[in-house]
Amino acid sequence: MGRAFTYVILGGGVAAGYAALEFTKRGVSQGELCIISEEPVAPYERPALSKGFLLPEARARLPSFHTCVGDNEERLTPKWYKEHGIELVLGTRVKSADVRRKTLLTATGETISYRILLVATGARALKLEEFGVTGSDAENVCYLRDLADANRIFDAMQSCPGGNAIVIGGGYIGMECAASLVINKINVTMVFPEAHCMARLFTPKIASYYEDYYKSKGVTFIKGTVLSSFDIDSDGKVTAVNLRDGSLLPADMVVVGIGIRPNTGLFEGQLTLEKGGIKVNGKLQSSNSSIYAVGDVAAFPVKLFGECRRLEHVDSARRSARHAVAAIMEPEKTGEFDYLPFFYSRVFTMSWQFYGDNVGEVVHYGDFSGSTIGAYWVSKGYLVGSFLEGGTKEEYEAIAKTTRLKPAIEDLGELERQGLGFALTV
Ligand code: FDA
Ligand code: NAD
Repeated sequence: MGRAFTYVILGGGVAAGYAALEFTKRGVSQGELCIISEEPVAPYERPALSKGFLLPEARARLPSFHTCVGDNEERLTPKWYKEHGIELVLGTRVKSADVRRKTLLTATGETISYRILLVATGARALKLEEFGVTGSDAENVCYLRDLADANRIFDAMQSCPGGNAIVIGGGYIGMECAASLVINKINVTMVFPEAHCMARLFTPKIASYYEDYYKSKGVTFIKGTVLSSFDIDSDGKVTAVNLRDGSLLPADMVVVGIGIRPNTGLFEGQLTLEKGGIKVNGKLQSSNSSIYAVGDVAAFPVKLFGECRRLEHVDSARRSARHAVAAIMEPEKTGEFDYLPFFYSRVFTMSWQFYGDNVGEVVHYGDFSGSTIGAYWVSKGYLVGSFLEGGTKEEYEAIAKTTRLKPAIEDLGELERQGLGFALTV
């Protein structure tokens, strides 16, 4: 059995939702577009899973955070897809792709063919097993990538009020989940191998600002070591975590956030890969002209840096998806994707934004015992990155605009003296 569509979006996450919106804005006919997703629900704003979804009260639940609510656009509920004649093939994993024949084979045995394919398969969470630790399948060990994972964390929290959670990993998932666990009155210990949290982005000074805040909320940090094994009881539940430094931590639940791998498997050997993702050009088009890739799975040229990057953030997923659809529907009118990398997070009552690249020398500014801090990164004489915690809308817009302009910086001391004022006057 089989079906044929002009456009197929493979993956039903953030990028898929924004791509669908863009397709309708540019005009697709009834039955021309289909989205195939392993998840059983229509595309939703994944960032909600570590934030509003885990709140003890007024928690976010679908349908309130279907895409594209995060961008103050329409909220795309299943009804919306129906009204726009878009076929949602949910709860369906694609198990192989044949780019020469332009077909996808689903796990249910259906062949779906396309004229143009938009790959939006995102990424999967890395498992502890990949680092030689067993026990990930214990009922109180949680990862966080999709709705099912978020429900599992929620249930685990409910089952151990006032209990102990061990958070493995000091990146985005670790930091955001630790904050949510604390808000739910769970005692949190964070364990990660680096010298400070958010090592991929934060400087030691920025990291210690957040770590101090977390400590004031009762979080314990154990740094420079990793998990070596779990103690598991006869019910199959983890009761303690053993660390490589020899310590033993009693645990009622464990949350693991140790990074991701892009879902490229279907296309290995068929499309050119780079930086772990599907390599695309400035139109988000892969090495096969009928296939575009967007979001976490795509490695695209970032004009501002003059090199190809794979970004793992929601703004990049939303914008790359929209640009790819523009390039598909109106190739003559659509230029190259010119993206300013933008990352953000919200934890407790804190909120930060980062634009650009975190390379070169760093200049910090602001009151590190107060609520507004910031930093600039200067590389080869140009400002290339900006970070701000606790800014206003106008201030965030100013650091974004300044980073995009990439101004020449002659005097780092002067930049430090001016601090946020520099971005506000550029
Ligand atoms: P996404 O992962 O959203 O979607 C991929 C989809 O493809 C899934 O539906 C998956 O099931 C499907 N799929 C994969 N393989 C398939 C197959 N073979 N067959 C069928 N379907 C398949 N970013 C940020 O900037 N700020 C933030 O605050 C957060 N917060 C945040 C919280 C949490 C908990 C997570 C997990 C992630 C974030 N992020 C974030 C990152 C952000 O959510 C991420 O960059 C985007 O979701 C990427 O969108 P994609 O559409 O590329 O992948
Ligand atoms: P990450 O790359 O941010 O952090 C991974 C962390 O894992 C590292 O900081 C390190 O501390 C730790 N680690 C690595 N190997 C380890 C090991 N063997 N044992 C213990 N710890 C180890 O990845 P993540 O936090 O898992 O996040 C997953 C994805 O979700 C990322 O793509 C991230 O961008 C995305 N996300 C983004 C946001 C946001 O942008 N606000 C929020 C949540 C998730």
